[in-house]
This record gives sequence, structure tokens and C-alpha cells, in this order.
Amino acid sequence: MRAAQVSKLEGPESIEIVDIPEPAAYPGGVVIDVHAAGVAFPDVLMTRGLYQMKPELPFVVGGEVAGIVREAPADAHVRAGDRVVALTLLGNAMGEVAVAPAQMVFRLPDNVSLEAGAGILFNDLTVHFCLRNRGRLAAGETVLVHGAAGGIGTSTLRMAAALGAGRVIAVVSTEAKAEVARANGATDVVLTDGWLAAVKELTGGRGVDIVLDPVGGDRFTDSIRSLASAGRLLVVGFTAGEIPTVKVNRLLLKNVEVTGAAWGEWVMTHPGYLAEQWAEVEPLLATGKIAPPQPVLYPLARAAEAVASLDNRTATGKVVVTLR
Ligand SMILES: NC(=O)c1ccc[n+]([C@@H]2O[C@H](COP(=O)([O-])OP(=O)(O)OC[C@H]3O[C@@H](n4cnc5c(N)ncnc54)[C@H](OP(=O)(O)O)[C@@H]3O)[C@@H](O)[C@H]2O)c1
Repeated sequence: MRAAQVSKLEGPESIEIVDIPEPAAYPGGVVIDVHAAGVAFPDVLMTRGLYQMKPELPFVVGGEVAGIVREAPADAHVRAGDRVVALTLLGNAMGEVAVAPAQMVFRLPDNVSLEAGAGILFNDLTVHFCLRNRGRLAAGETVLVHGAAGGIGTSTLRMAAALGAGRVIAVVSTEAKAEVARANGATDVVLTDGWLAAVKELTGGRGVDIVLDPVGGDRFTDSIRSLASAGRLLVVGFTAGEIPTVKVNRLLLKNVEVTGAAWGEWVMTHPGYLAEQWAEVEPLLATGKIAPPQPVLYPLARAAEAVASLDNRTATGKVVVTLR
């Protein structure tokens, strides 16, 4: 099969399109003819060996796919011919065939295309975990999301209202990204420069209930300052590169929380959680209460460029690589 593979840890440009044998089915594994694979920031980090998961070289890039089941175990909840989305967590996605554990494979609603489907699981279930579980989002609360035109950002914009948020404020670095944020459902959009003052003004000085932060870096302390009393700052990632530190007196003085939100760790340590999440998110997708992502598509031959677009900050929305 054709696949996007990394054989040296030199960043996205080291991704090569190669012909390799199809992966073998394993007990409990579902074999999928892959139509599309999602790209996420951990893929960038993995091409440099900088992510917490470090697969042996060479490895196939990507952690999530959408496609058609070719073969499934007799007792699985999916069967040959089903349209599915699946997690390969992580690596082993951007090939024409992938194998995923049955508990990480889900039927895709008919109203969602395979290309859009490839952009759902990784980000939407992270955001669902962040807002529901770690952030305890209550009806009518205000959510602010950094990097709002990115993968996690646009997921937050698409999902927050359906999960109960009353208002979703997007923080983005450029006017072009502001357009993307609006198109994905932001109630308000502010630019990174001067974002704290703008948010204070928008909220009449009150601040926001939840900050979902996939960016980190030097805006972190201002994120704490942007919280309303009893607000929660969710630590999701560090695309800015720098890992911030917290002066805990700020938490005490304002009655606010800084909370880690590592979805992959939770999934691995809480069997059955993924299925619970899908049982809630799937009907919202199927009924259109959560709009499907509108991914930017790259053919497999341009997989390196697709991953590089997240590295060089030019990506907007979810990026997906198509294989069929
Ligand atoms: N905790 C979890 O369970 C979990 C799950 C999935 C992903 N993540 C993490 O979430 C983060 C976002 O992932 P993603 O797939 O949404 O990434 P993405 O699509 O590339 O979006 C990231 C956003 O970060 C902002 N950014 C600020 N400084 C940047 C820089 N120096 N380089 C690149 N982007 C920069 C950009 O927005 P502006 O240009 O508008 O600032 C960009 O749109 C990553 O750190 C990833 O590892 C965590």
C-alpha cells in the first residue's frame, strides 16, 4: 500500500510517500480501507521525536482515519462495508489500509462525509472531554478558546454551544483566522494583540468561565487574569513552544482553577470512556446540532505539506489527507 512514512526525525519535511506491506490484522483489530486521515499537532511533534509517544522508526504518520471496514472480528460492533471513523493512537493512520482496536472504531453518521469524519475523533472528543469532564461546563457559561482557528480551536467553536455554552470567544492571530473562527461559530472574535483588554470589555469586566488553551506560552498568565470568579483554565497544549508556570497565589486570590486536560491519558486509563463520549457526540453530529468540520484537504502525495502547515502556523481549521 502507499503510505506517508517517517524514517528520520527531521520534522514534517522528512515525511516520504512509500510503498509498504499492508498492516496485518491482529486479534480484536478492525481492518479499514482508509479514505482520509486527520492531521493534528502531535503529528508535527512526532516527526521530530518530541511527542510523549515515540514509535520505532520507520512509522506511518497520523492517529485517526475514516474509511470502510474491510474485515472485523465476529463479535465487533462494526462489520465489513460499514462507514467508520477510528483512532490508531498514534501513528499508523496515513496509509491506504489501517488496523484499529474495535473499541476505537465508530460508525459515522450518514450526513457526515468521510473527509469530514477523518477530522472528528481526535479534536472533538478532546474538546468534549475538556468542556464536559475537566471544565464542568454549565449551561449559559462563557468559553474562551486560544488558537481558535486551529484544529482544537475550531472543534471548540463548533461544539461549545451544543454542549451548553452561552457564548464562545475566539482568540486568533490574524484577520484571515478571524474569518475562519466566525465561520466555525464564534460568538465574538478578538486578535491576539491586546486580547485580554478586549475580552474584559466584551464581558463587561466580569471575565470568562472557561479558557481552553492549546497554545500556552506568554499568554498564560493573562488567561488566568481573564477568568471570572470560579473560572477554569484548561491546559490542553503548548503550540507556542514554551511551557508556562503558574504562581498559585493568583489562583487563591481570584478563586480560579488551572486544570490539566489530557484526553489520550484519560482514554487509556478509563476503559469504556470513548464509547460513552461517542454515544453523546454522535447524535449531535447526526442531527446537525454539531456541524461537521470543513477540513482543508491534501492528497496523500502532499502529506508532508499538510503536516508542515500546522508547524508553520498557516493551517486553518482541521487538515485532512485523502487516500482514496
Ligand atoms: N490535551 C489533549 O488531550 C490534546 C489533544 C489533542 C491536541 N492537543 C494539543 O493541542 C494543541 C493544538 O493542536 P491542534 O491540532 O489544534 O493544532 P493547530 O491546528 O496547529 O492549531 C494550533 C493553533 O495554535 C496557535 N499557535 C500559537 N503559536 C503557535 C506556533 N508557534 N506554532 C503553531 N501554532 C501556534 C495557532 O493559532 P494563532 O495563529 O491564531 O495563534 C494555531 O492555529 C497541540 O499542542 C496539541 O498537542 C492536546
